[in-house]
Amino acid sequence: MRYGYFNDEQKEYVITRPDTPLPWINYLGCEAYFGILSNTAGGYSFYKDARLRRLTRYRYNQAPLDETGRYIYLRDDDTQTAEYWSPTWQPVRRKLNEYECRHGLGYTTIRSSLAGIQAQLLYFIPLGENLEIWQLSLSNLRTQPANLSVFSMVEFCLWDAVDDATNFQRNYSIGEVEVVDEVIYHKSEYRERRDHFAFLACSEKLAGFDTDREAFLGPYRGADAPLGVERGYLSNSIAHGWQPVGVQQFKLHLEPGEQHETIFLLGYHENHQEEKFDPPGTQQINKRRVQPIIQKYLKTEEVQTAFQQLKAYWQGLLEKLKVQTPDIHTDRMVNTWNVYQLMATFNFSRSASYFESGTGRGMGFRDSNQDLLGFMHLMPERARQRILDLTATQLSSGGAYHQYQPLTKRGNNEVGSGFNDDPLWLVLAVAAYIAETGEWSILDEVVPYDNQPGSEESLYGHLKRSMGYTLSRLGPHNLPLIGRADWNDCLNLNCFSEAPGQSFQTTTNKDGKVAESVFIAGLFIRAAQEMIRMAATRQDPDGELYLHASQQMAEAVWQSGWDGSWFLRAYDNFGEPVGSKYCQEGQIYIEPQGMCIMAGLGIDNGRARQALDAVAEKLATPHGIMLHQPAYTRYYLNLGEISSYPPGYKENGSVFCHTNPWIMIAEAMLGNGAAAHDYYLRINPSKREEISEVHRCEPYVYAQTIAGREAATYGEAKNSWLTGTAAWNYLAITQWILGIRPEFEGLRIDPCVPPEWDGFRVERTFRGRQLHIMVHNPSHISHGVSRVELDGREIEGNLVRFTAEGDEHQVDVWMGS
Ligand code: BGC
Ligand code: NOJ
Repeated sequence: MRYGYFNDEQKEYVITRPDTPLPWINYLGCEAYFGILSNTAGGYSFYKDARLRRLTRYRYNQAPLDETGRYIYLRDDDTQTAEYWSPTWQPVRRKLNEYECRHGLGYTTIRSSLAGIQAQLLYFIPLGENLEIWQLSLSNLRTQPANLSVFSMVEFCLWDAVDDATNFQRNYSIGEVEVVDEVIYHKSEYRERRDHFAFLACSEKLAGFDTDREAFLGPYRGADAPLGVERGYLSNSIAHGWQPVGVQQFKLHLEPGEQHETIFLLGYHENHQEEKFDPPGTQQINKRRVQPIIQKYLKTEEVQTAFQQLKAYWQGLLEKLKVQTPDIHTDRMVNTWNVYQLMATFNFSRSASYFESGTGRGMGFRDSNQDLLGFMHLMPERARQRILDLTATQLSSGGAYHQYQPLTKRGNNEVGSGFNDDPLWLVLAVAAYIAETGEWSILDEVVPYDNQPGSEESLYGHLKRSMGYTLSRLGPHNLPLIGRADWNDCLNLNCFSEAPGQSFQTTTNKDGKVAESVFIAGLFIRAAQEMIRMAATRQDPDGELYLHASQQMAEAVWQSGWDGSWFLRAYDNFGEPVGSKYCQEGQIYIEPQGMCIMAGLGIDNGRARQALDAVAEKLATPHGIMLHQPAYTRYYLNLGEISSYPPGYKENGSVFCHTNPWIMIAEAMLGNGAAAHDYYLRINPSKREEISEVHRCEPYVYAQTIAGREAATYGEAKNSWLTGTAAWNYLAITQWILGIRPEFEGLRIDPCVPPEWDGFRVERTFRGRQLHIMVHNPSHISHGVSRVELDGREIEGNLVRFTAEGDEHQVDVWMGS
């Protein structure tokens, strides 16, 4: 069952009923000011950091779902009963005659009608500005004139969203606002150390306003039935403490057929410390710098121009890589939605979504490094900066803070470090950057450790410490020690928790000298391949060291990390195997199969094939490939958080989508295009659109997890948007299945596709050149390239080096043996 459809032409997902199984959200903003917006106008806004600079409030775990938001109420002033409704359905939830929400790239429109009044709202954030626009257009479809009252409402947050939710003994007394020239300013704590405030403005002459929540809603009432709307007038309240809100009312007379447009602005502004007040010496906000911005965007023409600029911006990004294949789900995801999700993961890591509060997790070290893997070609300069920011949170031990706060860019001490896979991901991200851009000089950038001045070293030096970190932490089988966890946050082999409510990852109570990870072994070998090549270009003799170390690591894997038919997962703190046929449960895990084969292990000796056959037999389901099998049916103290989940959920044997592309890549490395693409489709959101009632999350983005076979809700997705699935799937489909793969020396063209495909087309920018790539598959094979022509001339092999001059090139590729 579907709740909408893809409009591929407009690059929109069109939702045709408001009561989707879960709120289906979109993100606004792409630079510093961001918003989350659901299909019924729920969500919140923030400046840079969803925790430390929250502008508006959001209530998690709320029933009814999805409160609060950017709300509009329409009140029919002509009716005796004073009917009112929300044109976005929420929060009033009156049944609408017509409803349509279009989530586009960086904008959303919601259109609806009721009682002969049609409303359309467009929400977006202009490029380069710290404000959001809601453009409301109202039309009277009646044969009679209409007299309406229109209300807007946002709830202001007191900036630190955790403090806002927890420290209300203080917050109930600090809220302050100003209302000047009909603009509502939220300025809590501005008198003291803050230099920023929020504003809500409207292009209409106001009939009234409220800034005190209770004055607007009435005591004991919710946003679904505000007293102010019910009675048709506001009380011009000024908030003193309690909960500041921004509520505006204007009256509108519409003749039959008449249409009217209104602009609302919600924004954030920072003043210079020395110019905070106006007149100086008072406690009033200096509005001199913000006023012209407000004036500018209250004009329809400016809004239209800004909207066109936003569209052009996205169009430009999408141009960087476009494909045309025989499969619509591939095209749709690669050309639009997967790219869009890459931007979201780049911007928010795992911090702010409808499953991540924005208050708990900052930017993850391993997460952001992996998110970059698919992002390099989109905005190489921003990717470069991100790499350097991440590097500055590496510790001098070579380890890394697991997370950092985006506003401060400082490592998060509460979570700390000791996730032993973390530093190796940096090597992969840097290698991907160089492969995309050819810019080797990034390795000479000088970056501190833990942001400490005086500790600076070249990026290359940082990477060497990443490698050294693993090498100086080997366990009894010469495999890498796992630390608090590796990629699988919930396999906590050193952190035993017996007390309810304790955090698994931070309860370190073993010295950590025994538990080992085969996954990190694979990741190390993969990273070493990059280091060996980097060392070669720098004439660094340590290249030899990495070669030797990776050979020894491979030996350790074959000695102690191979279970007979698949790769073992780990050894626990007691030296017992995890992910082995000898285990009662959790006998086979997906991660080492993916990572070890991606590192090249077992490709020559048949074991990679054996492992992938085991994956197909034991882990693959129609809903994707499960994390391990059988899922744990009881709590195993020695494994940590993993078995705390009921069987089939999250890390306990769900389809953890992030790992599926590793298997797609592994199958592609073995030349099996049919299997690779089949796995790709099983978790492809567009392909799953038709089972939206089972999948339940948005059909236009990947979710982190899909409940596994043992789960009661098998096939149900959770935790949409912020997941490494976005980057890895993009990599799997573009670089390994379609096989257009940047390497240090050029662009490798190495497709591995379903044999029934006749071929496909790719438009790609690469190192400033525009490439038109046409792949022909006349003999219907999966893998193998027999001929490559660059601008009509045959070249040797399938690595295109682009020595030829010119901004545009035609590359023709024939698959064959
Ligand atoms: C969650 C994991 C998550 C981890 C990150 C755990 O509680 O279950 O999915 O990766 O926290 O901190
Ligand atoms: C989500 C985390 O963000 C990611 O870092 C981790 O690898 C997965 N969960 C698996 O536990």
